[in-house]
Amino acid sequence: MQEVPKNCKIYSLAILSLALLLLVYFYSASYGIVWFAVLVFGLFTILAESLGINLPRAGAISVSSALLYAAMITFGPFTASIVAVFTSITWNDIKNKTSVYRWLFNGGESILAIGLSGLIYAYTGGVLLFNRGLVFSDFPRVLLPLTLSLIAFFLFDSALVSVAIGFYEDISPMSAWLVDCKWAFFNYVTLGILGIGLAEVFVKIGFPGIILFIVPLLVARQDFEVYMNLQEAYIKTVGSLVTAIEAKDPYTKGHSERVAGYAEGTARALGWSEDKVEVIKYAALLHDVGKIGIAKKILGKAGKLSEDEFKVVQDHPDMGARIIREIKFLEDVIPAVFHHHEALDGSGYLDGLVGESIPVEARVMAVADSFDAMTSARPYRPALDRETAAKELLACCGAQFDDSIVNALLDSLGLAIVKEKMSGEEDQLSIIESKT
Ligand SMILES: [Fe+2]
Ligand SMILES: [Fe+2]
Repeated sequence: MQEVPKNCKIYSLAILSLALLLLVYFYSASYGIVWFAVLVFGLFTILAESLGINLPRAGAISVSSALLYAAMITFGPFTASIVAVFTSITWNDIKNKTSVYRWLFNGGESILAIGLSGLIYAYTGGVLLFNRGLVFSDFPRVLLPLTLSLIAFFLFDSALVSVAIGFYEDISPMSAWLVDCKWAFFNYVTLGILGIGLAEVFVKIGFPGIILFIVPLLVARQDFEVYMNLQEAYIKTVGSLVTAIEAKDPYTKGHSERVAGYAEGTARALGWSEDKVEVIKYAALLHDVGKIGIAKKILGKAGKLSEDEFKVVQDHPDMGARIIREIKFLEDVIPAVFHHHEALDGSGYLDGLVGESIPVEARVMAVADSFDAMTSARPYRPALDRETAAKELLACCGAQFDDSIVNALLDSLGLAIVKEKMSGEEDQLSIIESKT
């Protein structure tokens, strides 16, 4: 079982306390509970949660949102909140012996999300469908509470989960939200609409109505699964391309992975969003993928390359961009791959771009790539130590590299001290000069 960080434990308990307070409020404000509905919707919620789909980094999403939303608009927020307790129980959690704090958090955040969404539904004039269902005269008046409560449900749910991911992975909640939750909005809308249909069928047909709705819910689940599997397949595609590059050029073994590490550290030190960090990681892993098209005898040549051979090697960013263009999911990484050999003064290739006209991702790539090249051994020279390589980068700031990016890389590697040492050396130099 993975150890849960202390701040995650505190957060889980805080969310649970708020959820309990909300339940006390519902009780004292005389919101009703329909126990039959709790039983029926609760059982289906356990089923839906057990078929949940894991998100790329943490947490999971399930079609139980449709059941909770249906329970809320049919029986009100108190009943839906009690149904939400069942979201904390999943077969995977039992099987994986998930920490009790995760159970408490899942239950607490679901109660809060659906409970608060239910209050918004009530306060904006939403009618409970229990015993009556939606009738023609409810339109268009009912659209406002339905829309607002659905948006609120999504926002509360995703915000509470993002803060948990933020604590768990030590990243900003906004970054977690952008990567793990933002894409889920349209799925919530779909599940919300399914929830409204489910409520209607339940009111008009009763218990068998829910079974009728299980099929579309499973289709929705299938959709999630296809999306998540696709993400996984893309990540594996990237992995196999990297393996192919390294099999071809043994001197660069581990190069792409290391450059990805340096580029990620630099991007985080620059305060980039999680979305951009993902892009730079993929770009770094793939920056030399175009070398697949270069003959092994050129790549592995120990001596100096001829002019023609050099031209062939120089073509690899273009070849790489062309390979990546075939993978739709990777289109954002193309500029970084295509321009990763540009230099700030325009002396680089492929386009000889100058300064800020070089995409910032490509400027990060150039620094990370050079740092790894210098700190790795080559057949014709030994590896430089990190401090010497850092000095080289600093010396080339302005001409070849963007200094803010070099500083960010050095910060991320704990090498900022090198800069102070260098300025000390310069001071010394200028003192010596002034004496002579
Ligand atoms: Fe390259
Ligand atoms: Fe490289």
